[in-house]
Amino acid sequence: MYDFKIEAADKATLYKDLAAAVEALMAGEKDAIANMANAAALIWESLPDINWVGFYRNVDGELVLGPFQGRPACIRIPFGTGVCGVAAETRQVQLVEDVHAFPGHIACDSASNSEIVVPIVRDGELLAVLDIDSPAHARFDEDDRAGCVRLGELISRAI
Ligand code: SME
Repeated sequence: MYDFKIEAADKATLYKDLAAAVEALMAGEKDAIANMANAAALIWESLPDINWVGFYRNVDGELVLGPFQGRPACIRIPFGTGVCGVAAETRQVQLVEDVHAFPGHIACDSASNSEIVVPIVRDGELLAVLDIDSPAHARFDEDDRAGCVRLGELISRAI
């Protein structure tokens, strides 16, 4: 049994502890699906005020749903479409305070109001995106961006 209880007073410490736990859980394991599944579960258990976390994998130039926690989600997203597709196409983190104002946003769960999507790139290749949704407005800030980019770097080496 893995028992990672991450409770930190500030976001920087929360993400530092979360990164260490994600790294420890993936250590020595090469299976991409297993590592994405455990990473999604750890993030789900550790970050407050989120209603979806998971991965969309780059499968032949299209985003395909991967391991996640939360409600069932749309399966395929073209590059350039929605928050995930824009993150995949531009390879830029998308930090969206109000998803309803994002052109082409794909509403998988009507409860979502803000979202962060981090491209996961290794050796110049886009492998996947990490997507986190929240029912809170403007849930994600620059501390979340830094923390999630760090998580993305660690995950890129293990998938
Ligand atoms: N909202 C995303 C779609 C994926 S769900 O949030 C799980 C988007 O616009 O790309």
